Amino acid sequence: MEHNEQPSKDATSRRSFLSKGLVVGGAGTLGTGLLSTGLLATNFAHAAGSTSSSVTKGDVAILRFLAAAEIIETDLWQQYNELGGIQDSEVPGGSGSAPYIAALSVLDGDMSQYIHDNTEDEFTHFTFINAYLQSIGANPVNLDKFRTLPSSKATGAQQIGRLTNLMQLTVDTSWWTKYRSRTKNPDFGDSFAQAIPGLAKGQFPAIPRSDADLAPANHIQAIANTAGFHFGFIEQGGTSLYPSLAQRVTNAVVLRILLSIGPTEMAHFQTWHDKAGNAPALTDPTNGLVFPNLNAAPFGGEDFQTNLIMPEPTIFLSRKFPPVSIIRPTETKGAAMGAAKALTDDGLFIGQSKEFFAALHALAQQADAAQRGY
Ligand SMILES: [Fe+2]
Repeated sequence: MEHNEQPSKDATSRRSFLSKGLVVGGAGTLGTGLLSTGLLATNFAHAAGSTSSSVTKGDVAILRFLAAAEIIETDLWQQYNELGGIQDSEVPGGSGSAPYIAALSVLDGDMSQYIHDNTEDEFTHFTFINAYLQSIGANPVNLDKFRTLPSSKATGAQQIGRLTNLMQLTVDTSWWTKYRSRTKNPDFGDSFAQAIPGLAKGQFPAIPRSDADLAPANHIQAIANTAGFHFGFIEQGGTSLYPSLAQRVTNAVVLRILLSIGPTEMAHFQTWHDKAGNAPALTDPTNGLVFPNLNAAPFGGEDFQTNLIMPEPTIFLSRKFPPVSIIRPTETKGAAMGAAKALTDDGLFIGQSKEFFAALHALAQQADAAQRGY
């Protein structure tokens, strides 16, 4: 296999495409861009294939937040791919870490392929949304100025600035029980037990921070297990974000974009849900992090059994209706800020600048201000 130290021509041209012209800088520029693009978008709605309502200012705001979320997803998946995936012309960069890949492979022999494919998908999500934004005269989103966080020092990682930090994660693993509950729904204010209680407190790496993390065996396996549960956390978030925001889209083409990208997040989530269940029970000797046997007491049963990977039916809209198998949550109010908060609580942005949070929050607030018809 050929390993690329430099981004390929494809990646470079993607980057320069995103840097051209209507580039978004800090939070101040974001606001101006949104005001002006709302007007432009209306003029270009027919050129972009709209058959009914024009693209509204709210549609643009929703697309721009999704572009930012996808850029953030791409940044973290790229880091996983460099060390644990497959580096090729589709997903260039890095050269792999054999001990990390071996530990990931305990969850599934195809983990590297899945990491590669998930990474490529995220690349295409933000690249497409930005291209669509440009096609309607709206500003694409560019977060390059915030690529300031350090890379892993482990052999196999590129040494470039990152948007996200995968080395101090506090992973919320309640998605595991949320999708198994037959009686609760986060949209009703319900909360859910953690599958891996230790991961939800403290800070843990999901990639080796340096080659010192490659041993002892239960330490690098704990890092791979953490990644396995983090994959599920990230993708179930995306699975909820798209239907949550789609409820406030006005234009039919923009709705089609959300309805067509969103379910691919579920394809990822379903895969990761299955693989996380294969994470071996262990205790990390370096920090005491415990991965329990989810099929044995006090775990086990319908809330934890590892092969119960399909969504259980649960309450939806009102308790007067029969339980139904659904994505959860899908409440639209505050969905963008909720996503920004979840990613922040995850530890992904530890070390990021005030300007980064201001820009992310501005994008989220604009998206959450969108209403159908406006
Ligand atoms: Fe995505």
